[in-house]
Amino acid sequence: MSEQRIWGGTIRKLWPTETDKFRGHLLRLDKDARRMRFAHGVSDAFITDYADHMSEMGSIVYGYFSGGEMRAAAELRKLGDVWGHEAEAAFSVERPFQEKGIGTELMGRVIRSARNRGVHQLYMSCLSENGKMQAVARKHGADLHFEYGEVVGEIIPNSPDYFSLMAEAVDDRVGYMLAVLDLQSRLAVNAA
Ligand SMILES: CC(C)(COP(=O)(O)OP(=O)(O)OC[C@H]1O[C@@H](n2cnc3c(N)ncnc32)[C@H](O)[C@@H]1OP(=O)(O)O)[C@@H](O)C(=O)NCCC(=O)NCCS
Repeated sequence: MSEQRIWGGTIRKLWPTETDKFRGHLLRLDKDARRMRFAHGVSDAFITDYADHMSEMGSIVYGYFSGGEMRAAAELRKLGDVWGHEAEAAFSVERPFQEKGIGTELMGRVIRSARNRGVHQLYMSCLSENGKMQAVARKHGADLHFEYGEVVGEIIPNSPDYFSLMAEAVDDRVGYMLAVLDLQSRLAVNAA
């Protein structure tokens, strides 16, 4: 079983029906984290609209869950209608959960998902003052350069192989079980 427990929580992919969890997490980001995540300050209405379109965009979103709440997200977005050679990634970790290795762990999942979809170049951009994001990207071997006042990280994932595909498939199975358990516990709370 490849379930990854990290700081008492778990990481799994979100299902398209779980936009509420993604929205709740993004809305909990403080002003500074929102600016770092979206490269400018964003309102609650912007975040609500952004989260509502998660499944339409066909993005893969990983969530870090602790105490029944989603506390961090990693998004892998395709740049066209289908998965092509290039894709983009973005990360957000709520303040009390930062600097515990969660962003690093999430980036590993995103790189593996990109690899398994034949992505050759994975981009992430962040503000130049965002030392934490750049540190995480460097740990995964990203090539960092300045572009139009931002720092762009570029990662070239390896080609997919049996082990990378299997690892993601096993994670997905475990993630499915965790999502079902989460749903059951919420139903039980509502029924009580
Ligand atoms: C950037 C972010 C995703 C990182 O997630 P995280 O869980 O805090 O990251 P990790 O704990 O895995 O790693 C953080 C690393 O940054 C390092 N770091 C902390 N502050 C730093 C700074 N000012 N400059 C450079 N490195 C720094 C830490 O030491 C750690 O590296 P280490 O593990 O080698 O010690 C998170 O801080 C976040 O969500 N920020 C707000 C939104 C954002 O910036 N998103 C990125 C743009 S898409």
